[in-house]
Amino acid sequence: MTVHKTPIAILISGRGSNMRSLIEACAQPDFPASVALVLSNKEDAAGLEYAREAGLRAEAIPHRLFGKDREAHERAIDARLKEAGVEFVCLAGYMRLLTPFLTDAWKGRMINIHPSLLPLFPGTHTHERALEAGVRIHGCTVHHVTAGMDEGPIIGQAAVPVLSDDTVDELAARVLEQEHVLYPMALKKILTDEGLPIRAYKALIVT
Ligand code: GRF
Repeated sequence: MTVHKTPIAILISGRGSNMRSLIEACAQPDFPASVALVLSNKEDAAGLEYAREAGLRAEAIPHRLFGKDREAHERAIDARLKEAGVEFVCLAGYMRLLTPFLTDAWKGRMINIHPSLLPLFPGTHTHERALEAGVRIHGCTVHHVTAGMDEGPIIGQAAVPVLSDDTVDELAARVLEQEHVLYPMALKKILTDEGLPIRAYKALIVT
């Protein structure tokens, strides 16, 4: 049985490790998405080079060309997405605040990965803040994108322990490893309504 592949765009600003995990998932014949376009707001985003080497269309629409006019930048992005036949958008380390123009235009068809267990620690520096708060469990969230930053409905989460001697980098690396597992799973769930049914579980208890 051939699976229907929804054409997606991945929006990045930097190294693009989550983008890579999505590209790898999309390369599987039974994964319900294909990468139609990788877009960045920065020409020098390292992820663009990786995507091009993978044979994908990967382009930049630099936000600096639009000055302070965020919506004009988003209109250019929206036009490129449509022109590439994109039907669903994954933000993966895309470091721009979005205006209601783009969140409304892609409502229900745009998701993001965030490096914390939302609603804890929206915004930046999530790992530092988790260590400061003394939480013993931390993680990442894939959620729908809405006008409020990091506020959209949650699709999936992955949790990791916070170890007593963790540095920010160690904790970030532990979370990132799970981001790479979670993001393709959450995308599959949202495109097919077939996430992994969680009927058996082990609690993550950290003291
Ligand atoms: C990830 O931690 C992601 O959760 C956050 O930004 C980071 C991007 O990393 N939104 P990468 O570019 O995917 O490696």
